[in-house]
Amino acid sequence: MTVHLSLLCLLSLAPLSVIAEKITHDYCIVGAGPAGLQLGFFLNRDGHDYVIFEKSDVAGSFFAKYPRHRQLISINKRFTGRYNKEFNLRHDWNSLMSDDDDLLFGKYSEEYFPDADDYLKYLADYQRKLGINVKFNTEVSNISQSQQKGCKFEMQDQHENNYCCKRVLVIANGISDPIVSHGVGHDLIEGYESMSVNPKEFDGQSVLIFGRGNSALETAKSLYGHAAYLNLASRSRLRFSWDTHYVGDIRGINNEVLDSYHLKSLDGILEGMSIEEVDIVRRTDGKLDLIPNKKSHISLEDMDHNPVRHGYDRILRCIGFQWDKSLFNANTTPALSKTSSGKYPLMGTDYQSLQFPGMYFAGALAHSLDWRKSAGGFIHGFRYT
Ligand SMILES: *[C@@H]1O[C@H](CO)[C@@H](O)[C@H](O)[C@H]1NC(C)=O
Repeated sequence: MTVHLSLLCLLSLAPLSVIAEKITHDYCIVGAGPAGLQLGFFLNRDGHDYVIFEKSDVAGSFFAKYPRHRQLISINKRFTGRYNKEFNLRHDWNSLMSDDDDLLFGKYSEEYFPDADDYLKYLADYQRKLGINVKFNTEVSNISQSQQKGCKFEMQDQHENNYCCKRVLVIANGISDPIVSHGVGHDLIEGYESMSVNPKEFDGQSVLIFGRGNSALETAKSLYGHAAYLNLASRSRLRFSWDTHYVGDIRGINNEVLDSYHLKSLDGILEGMSIEEVDIVRRTDGKLDLIPNKKSHISLEDMDHNPVRHGYDRILRCIGFQWDKSLFNANTTPALSKTSSGKYPLMGTDYQSLQFPGMYFAGALAHSLDWRKSAGGFIHGFRYT
């Protein structure tokens, strides 16, 4: 018994001494996606003291789950007819920069619109072959500006390790949190993050998809050979990349379903109805009904002339992703930039936080500066930014 007691004492003392000691690095990067790895490559090559914190056990974990139907919309342009590496890379939407010609994504897939699993393999090889220092299964939180001399930022991980970043902190955790709606009856809606991706489960059903981006169109594409009625509902008009030249808008690869819409088949698109404007109720016949709520500018009368009056077997939510900023301490939480519709963090033209000197943003977050203007939110875009 006495032996047990003294052991307990030792165990309870041990974590205290670990907490007091901070693990220190000059450069800390949060997130081992394409941006984090790319930065890691350059910091590694130049011999800097850096670490990349990755909450999951793989690099680019977003791609382990998304896109749900596994086909990327980033072009795998393997042949350009040119030998200039720089020129070729400009037309390659997926590869990261390195000195190793085997680490080009074209070596991993022959598909023009590649499979996300191949991209995972590519990122894993990139990290391993180049010896990039990623600390996997390490979820940092409570990121705060440090009061301690020689420390700019500090943070903890789930194993109660404490870290001190001496020079630069780079936030590269992407835009990967599904946006959820909270209206009345919205628990009856299935989200993109958890819905079934087996199209057979939708055979003969009437299905409504909220959303007007590529995740909504990708989902529609997988279902239109199975559902009896397939409607898309969105707040505003669909925007097509072939009109806008913006790669974030709806891409040609998702065009098939629009074809059936334009040919006046049973499928349709309802513009001007957002998920926030409707309550969902289950009717006695089991179908789901949409009821305009107080936020809605659609009247019940309008609804009578609307295809939604027939009700749906299933309603899916594919309205996009948001930035997860829960990893910051309350007094070090970055503000959002108004010019990017409040979706991206506020930053200067050098990608540095305007509030917290030494904090930078990379990858999809860097799209704050060229949102809806250029390709900075996409791998081939931010590779250069
Ligand atoms: C968060 O970090 C601050 C120091 O920056 C520390 O005082 C505080 O105890 C931490 N909070 C938690 C919940 O760990």
